[in-house]
Amino acid sequence: MEKNKLNGKKIPWWKKTTIYQIYPRSFKDSTGNGIGDLKGIISKLDYIQDLGVETIWFSPFYSSPQGDFGYDISDYLNIAPEYGTMNDFDDLVKNIHNRKMKIVMDLVLNHTSAQHKWFIESKKSRDNPKRNWYVWKDGKKPFGKAPPNNWKSYVTGSGWHYDSHTDQWYWASFLPFQPDLNYRNPDVKENMMEMIRFWLRKGVDGFRLDILGAVYEDPKFRDNPLSWKLIPSDESMDMLFRSSKYTTNYPDNYEFAKDLREVIDEFTDPPRFLLGEVSGSREELRNFCGKDSPDGLNLVFLFESMGAQLTAKNFRKLIKDFEKYFPDPYIPTWVFSNHDIIRRISRFKEQGAIEKAKINTAFQLTVRGVPTIYYGEEIAMRQNFLPLEKSLDAVSFKFKKFPRIIRNLLLKITNYAIHRDGCRTPMQWNRTETAGFSPSRTDTWLPVHPNYKLVNVENSIEDKDSLFYCYQRFLKLRQKTPALNSGNITLLDAKKIPKNILGYTRSAIFNGNEQTVHVYLNFGNKLVSFQIPEPNFHLIISTSISSQPLNGQNITLQPFEGIILGD
Ligand code: GLC
Repeated sequence: MEKNKLNGKKIPWWKKTTIYQIYPRSFKDSTGNGIGDLKGIISKLDYIQDLGVETIWFSPFYSSPQGDFGYDISDYLNIAPEYGTMNDFDDLVKNIHNRKMKIVMDLVLNHTSAQHKWFIESKKSRDNPKRNWYVWKDGKKPFGKAPPNNWKSYVTGSGWHYDSHTDQWYWASFLPFQPDLNYRNPDVKENMMEMIRFWLRKGVDGFRLDILGAVYEDPKFRDNPLSWKLIPSDESMDMLFRSSKYTTNYPDNYEFAKDLREVIDEFTDPPRFLLGEVSGSREELRNFCGKDSPDGLNLVFLFESMGAQLTAKNFRKLIKDFEKYFPDPYIPTWVFSNHDIIRRISRFKEQGAIEKAKINTAFQLTVRGVPTIYYGEEIAMRQNFLPLEKSLDAVSFKFKKFPRIIRNLLLKITNYAIHRDGCRTPMQWNRTETAGFSPSRTDTWLPVHPNYKLVNVENSIEDKDSLFYCYQRFLKLRQKTPALNSGNITLLDAKKIPKNILGYTRSAIFNGNEQTVHVYLNFGNKLVSFQIPEPNFHLIISTSISSQPLNGQNITLQPFEGIILGD
């Protein structure tokens, strides 16, 4: 059970943790077939532990035809053979737990693969016992040859797909080969809850829940109303002038979050947690965690941070907003990169990118909330801007036919979300061929970034001033500092510090002692000096290993330097 007490309260481990996301296909290949696998991951656990993260979340490695690289599951109770076996999985859990780390799996509840045996059955006839496991509807009257209503999927046009054999349409929120399950059928719900228990019994510590806001739609199948929005955003999935009122964040999904929480709360030693991939307004995000009390998902991703420009003003506002909607005992999350979006560092101008990544890191690891780091982010892996023509990501296929100018425009305005290969390329371990990802000279499933001779783990470890060490120093400090991993946050008055500085304190009463640390982050590209608030402050850490920010009564911060002071 949990040992640490803060202000007399037990803090569950997941509130203090730091998460590292692994895209299994791209982390480490142990066989030489160019595809990452579980044995490869096990061989790299020392690296992850040494980095200082505590929890690893894996994008799906269940059996799958890999149409959406694992987000299309054909057997929830098995491991895809290219990634390994159930024994390898058990080994992975054991090896993670032996290191006192935790394992989080990805749960794709909304849809299965069209090759799942349930869907194969479901398609056979209208009276098949599995028919009602998916969402089937007649076409629009009078002829029935038009989709049942105007609902759009997230990535293609209509989310309805016609099956000529049974003359009905099935609903798919994402790609056509990912039919949505029908959770209004109690058998489906029960089956999936039992599947969750299966993994919990195996020792899984938590789940990341894929597109959870899409699980339940309007049971009356009403048309979605008009909207003014052309492209979707963090606040709303409305797009192409259609609202998503009846297809995203339908209120039954909030109840479902509570049902899921009940299941994971059956497992108490250690407690488990749920982290939702949801989008919507802040109120909606909060609803997933429980509107009036925290009895829903433990955490939800707050994707607004991903696109936030690197300025003190933006981050101050984000902290205020997140704290408003997720005050203790809720807790925000902070994420900047993942397998669906352009890597954060590639949004910065190349000149000064490492310094900017360092301040971003210092922020992410010192602000109140659970941070998620995407594999390779810690060594400054860049987006591999691969041409759309050769993409493997099914989301992008329909754009391949567009004229080049439109394709390029789309890539820009959607932040490469229409073509996600570029953020999923193999982890860059060293300077050898395939960046050390595959043991033999081979074609890796996606091309290694051409910069691998410069950007890799080996080089990062040789350079004491690398981004890797910045992550490591902040992660390790956070691990042992209750004020940082579980304290409250107080923003410093922006008027009392220079414009580009973001300042906050984190404090906690831990085992009877008060602990406070003071964070100052310079988001500007100029040196800044200002007066130290208390004469007795001392330096705990800086993003720069060589700077001496304290001098008498003054703090002097280098461009993009971040520091923590103690008193
Ligand atoms: C989520 C995943 C994404 C996947 C989609 C469909 O958004 O992050 O990678 O393609 O859901 O499952």
